Amino acid sequence: MKNENKLSTTENAFIDQVIKALKFFWEVGKEIVLGIYYDRFPVWRYCSVGILSAYYFMLDLDITVANFFGTNWYFEPNGKKAFLVLFLATSGVLFFGIEKAVAKTHLLERLKKCFDYCDLKSGGIYPSFINDVAIDDYVRQMKLYVPGIPLFKFEQKKNELEAHFNANIVKMFTEDNDKSRLNIIYSIRDLPRKVLPDEAMVLDPGEIPVGKSYDTDVRFNIKEVGHMLVAGQTGGGKSNFLKFVTATLCSNDSDAEVHFLDFKGGTELTSVSGKVGHLKSFKGYDGHKESIEYLATLDGILSARLEEIKKTGAKDFDEYLKRYAKEKVAVADSSETTRSLKLNRMYIVIDEIAEVYLKGKDDIPKETKEAARRSINRIARQGRSAAMHLIAGTQKPDSQSFDQSVKANMPAVLCFPMVNQVSSIAALGTKRAFDLDIEAKGRAIFKYGPKLTEVQTYMFE
Ligand SMILES: Nc1ncnc2c1ncn2[C@@H]1O[C@H](COP(=O)(O)OP(=O)(O)OP(=O)(O)O)[C@@H](O)[C@H]1O
Ligand SMILES: [Mg+2]
Repeated sequence: MKNENKLSTTENAFIDQVIKALKFFWEVGKEIVLGIYYDRFPVWRYCSVGILSAYYFMLDLDITVANFFGTNWYFEPNGKKAFLVLFLATSGVLFFGIEKAVAKTHLLERLKKCFDYCDLKSGGIYPSFINDVAIDDYVRQMKLYVPGIPLFKFEQKKNELEAHFNANIVKMFTEDNDKSRLNIIYSIRDLPRKVLPDEAMVLDPGEIPVGKSYDTDVRFNIKEVGHMLVAGQTGGGKSNFLKFVTATLCSNDSDAEVHFLDFKGGTELTSVSGKVGHLKSFKGYDGHKESIEYLATLDGILSARLEEIKKTGAKDFDEYLKRYAKEKVAVADSSETTRSLKLNRMYIVIDEIAEVYLKGKDDIPKETKEAARRSINRIARQGRSAAMHLIAGTQKPDSQSFDQSVKANMPAVLCFPMVNQVSSIAALGTKRAFDLDIEAKGRAIFKYGPKLTEVQTYMFE
């Protein structure tokens, strides 16, 4: 009887091992299928060695090499060799699956320990793991099934979870239609909470330093890009960024005109004027009325500038400047008075551009508002060749609040946290700005081309 029991214990242990192994290979299979389906499988990295080795044996190069060295270290071409070729050819896929399944098993063990430690269980049942995917090189999103455990319990344990995982939790939220699905956005490293521009930073005219990302200083040149959209919900850091850009452009492009339009009127203009108000390149517009009236004049200014550039025969503004420089030299040589530069590059920084599209009751004539909208639309389309650049901030970049053809002509987008996924998609084309931590002031996603980069923008002081 005792022996029978012993035997059944051994058998049970064996069955347990078999079940474990089957489960593991099921996970391997799942990782392979999901990896290929979601395009997370870097084929060349995993398969190159296996495929090259498979070719080596398939073409019987092992026999050629063995003959050359006079050894018998080769495989006879038979069924076993065919199996070896097949195995080598597919080994990369298998290796990928095993690596991911092992990582997942470790992650699940860590999660279990962590939930024990933080007492995040409901009736003794642990939250279950749904998936963990990379959002970019530094940020990941983990999805858990947490029936019976409210979100606030996870929020209360945020510090313990961070310590246990050695990660920085950016945000936790449940899904609108299913409160039992918890999403945790986390990063292995955190960006600094406040960065000041380096005084020694050398910038070309038009160059805009956006902020610090995980691995580099992000900057771009608005002269090449054309126009920029700065979006984000209230309190994210749009005005701070626009003021910083204004001050930077004023001091790095002294020939340029930098127009700062403060639609809300007051504080932002006062603070930026305090810094660059004395520079001849700076011009501020206080409030809704002044800003709209100025914008309304820009359509005519754009036409005049295009005409002036055309007159010189230049195809764009850079060529115009080059031609003008030549003319200046020629005039100087003949010791006549040097003509002053006719056109300067214009940067138009607008804080809260959606105000232009509001159908509010104010004392501004309808025609002036329409002219302002027309100006913005034309600058977005043609301004680049006339060296007129828009850098416009708005809380709402959606079609109800903002001219979408203007948005389509703004290739650079800086998006601070967004209140929901739809607004983030309206600005960036992805929900990435919804994943940002609203508590981290100045944190944003910069998009130029297909690449999205998380940045901590510079503080304007
Ligand atoms: N880059 C930054 N670094 C640190 N703190 C910042 C940064 N940007 C903004 N902040 C802080 O966040 C606060 C809100 O910023 P800001 O006024 O620029 O937001 P906003 O997006 O313009 O909001 P609103 O839409 O309401 O005008 C500021 O008072 C500032 O202290
Ligand atoms: Mg603001």
